[in-house]
Amino acid sequence: MNKTLRVALFDAKPYDRVWFEKALKDPVFSEPPFAALSFEIDYYEVKLSSATAALAKNHNAVCAFVNDRIDREVAAQLEAQGITLVALRSAGYNNVDLEAVWGKIHVLRVPAYSPHAVAEHAAALLQTLNRKVHLAYNRVRDGNFALSGLVGRDLHGQTAGIVGTGKIGKILATILRGYGMKILLNDPYPDDAFAQSIGAVYTDRDSLYRNADVISLHCPLTPDNRYMIDEKSIALMKREAIVINTGRGALIDTRALVEALKAGRIRGAALDVYEEEEQYFFEDWSLAPIRDDLLARLIQLPNVILTAHQAFLTEEALSQIARTTLLNIASWAVGERLENEICYHCADLGKEKECVRESRGSCWNADTASVKDEAAVETEAVEGDAPGGKLPVCERPFSPESTRLDGPDDPCWDGK
Ligand SMILES: NC(=O)c1ccc[n+]([C@@H]2O[C@H](COP(=O)([O-])OP(=O)(O)OC[C@H]3O[C@@H](n4cnc5c(N)ncnc54)[C@H](O)[C@@H]3O)[C@@H](O)[C@H]2O)c1
Repeated sequence: MNKTLRVALFDAKPYDRVWFEKALKDPVFSEPPFAALSFEIDYYEVKLSSATAALAKNHNAVCAFVNDRIDREVAAQLEAQGITLVALRSAGYNNVDLEAVWGKIHVLRVPAYSPHAVAEHAAALLQTLNRKVHLAYNRVRDGNFALSGLVGRDLHGQTAGIVGTGKIGKILATILRGYGMKILLNDPYPDDAFAQSIGAVYTDRDSLYRNADVISLHCPLTPDNRYMIDEKSIALMKREAIVINTGRGALIDTRALVEALKAGRIRGAALDVYEEEEQYFFEDWSLAPIRDDLLARLIQLPNVILTAHQAFLTEEALSQIARTTLLNIASWAVGERLENEICYHCADLGKEKECVRESRGSCWNADTASVKDEAAVETEAVEGDAPGGKLPVCERPFSPESTRLDGPDDPCWDGK
């Protein structure tokens, strides 16, 4: 029996539609175990919030992006509509209240989609700011070919400090090493082999702030590292320091940054994210006044470059985001292991690796280990019946109008 998965995709942009429609044609979706699935995607331009969550009604899953907010209120609204899956089109998930959704809504993400895209954008921002290309571009368009005020610095020989040495941070470190920069790294989980391979060294964060000419942030935003760059940390930095942020806006206290930039306390800032970006980014505000004074000030400063969260925006990344998001949803629908589930519960318990992460063998109900054992036994007993275990018999026909799960936990999922 064929099953149609209705997906409510929020904060949809024209490029999302292009790449999702392309990804739907990927042969993986016409082969087992997904061959019986078909997708019906409703593209909603609005962001997901308590005011728009009602649009999720009559869908099987919600697809959200970085500025869609899944707080406690929205989670309750989605749950009330029978939504048990939120598929994020992003790697970061600081916009989701994981505690509020745990046990009710699976949250899946796209952990890696061209980390090269983001690292290369960070390098582009650095080069532009350092050589004042943004100022030069405007001058030349105005017929002003003067060079005064456009003096930059050689990056070769300077020191770069990379905070967060995951996928993106490592690529940027390698690129900047290629420029001939010295590299300092900071991460609670150092990768010494990597550091050695590029001749870099790990150091504590304060020492990185003190010694780096370029400081680039590549860690996730967590309650612990909010405002990791504030007045105090800026006070440690060199006067020549350039701060780059392609991570998340709230890693930086923007007010403190603006004060430092106005006072010439540091050299400049190149930002792809802003702590209050939600209202403005991804939209055309060119005909309206910007009411956020901090944002207006940032845009106006000559030693700041701001792009509107576009570091990910390459064809390769969009293609991977769409494919992985659809694979996440399809895996959930057929009861496959949810490799990309964010299970903060198991991570908190230090059981990240053992976490069940199957839509049918979810660790939601009890102690992770015991549920995992039960799931394993059940899977063994009925192997061959259905992916992940035998489905209970459905008493009613499958209906897209149903606001219950309509997922693998719903006996009617098979439409028998
Ligand atoms: N601007 C964009 O378009 C865009 C796109 C993708 C990702 N991002 C952001 O970039 C971040 C990094 O992405 P990634 O794919 O490299 O993630 P990743 O998970 O591969 O790496 C993150 C690294 O940060 C480290 N870390 C965690 N907390 C830290 C802290 N307080 N101090 C220093 N290091 C810390 C982790 O140990 C890990 O090594 C994401 O969390 C996301 O917020 C932005």
